[in-house]
Amino acid sequence: MANTLFARFFDLAAGRAEKRGQAALRRELLAGLTGRVVEVGAGNGLNFRHYPPQVREVVAVEPQPFLRGRAGTAAAREAGDVIRVTDGTAEHVPAADASADAVVVSGVLCSVSDPDAALAEFRRVLRPGGELRFYEHVRADGGYGRRQDLVDRVWPRLNGGCHCNRDTLATLERAGYRVESRRRLVFPATALLSVVAPRVIGRAVPC
Ligand SMILES: C[S@@+](CC[C@H](N)C(=O)[O-])C[C@H]1O[C@@H](n2cnc3c(N)ncnc32)[C@H](O)[C@@H]1O
Repeated sequence: MANTLFARFFDLAAGRAEKRGQAALRRELLAGLTGRVVEVGAGNGLNFRHYPPQVREVVAVEPQPFLRGRAGTAAAREAGDVIRVTDGTAEHVPAADASADAVVVSGVLCSVSDPDAALAEFRRVLRPGGELRFYEHVRADGGYGRRQDLVDRVWPRLNGGCHCNRDTLATLERAGYRVESRRRLVFPATALLSVVAPRVIGRAVPC
């Protein structure tokens, strides 16, 4: 999301989804985490208020300058000195090898230009036994998926580089992650025609 205009639109529009139930999905995404977490593509920091108190440190990586500024404000407001917001990308995460108990992504693997490189980088950053938490919109099966394929010919140009038809579970498995839990859902539940409504939330471990 290098596009500042799109970043500003995302910042304005995101609050509505939170009220429609996305806040609860963020709590589900982060439930049970402890220790040191690296959140990649933190956006304007909408996950921050949902980290459990057992998380003692979050390094929140955000490449887009406007959103990074908003995330910095959210971190100061929500989390005292637990969350540090920093520049970086999924392909170059500013964290040492094996330094994180968990890596968190939400709405990010749809946008990175090279998901395999990102997943290799997350593997580098995770300690042995660490986990990847993900909440992503994904390609659906059947006709719905074919429609997503069609729409994706223009979608990234209008949506900050986001692809609406990525099969993220398959990408995780191909990249050598074992998906330990997954829950498919439609969000918002009433948005049956939206190309970004089919989603998956879960956890995976490098193997
Ligand atoms: C749809 S927003 C989601 C933001 C936030 N994770 C959330 O759940 O609200 C996508 C985010 O991914 C970030 N992003 C895009 N490409 C990225 C990359 N290569 N590395 C890290 N973050 C990236 C964007 O800057 C943006 O903040």
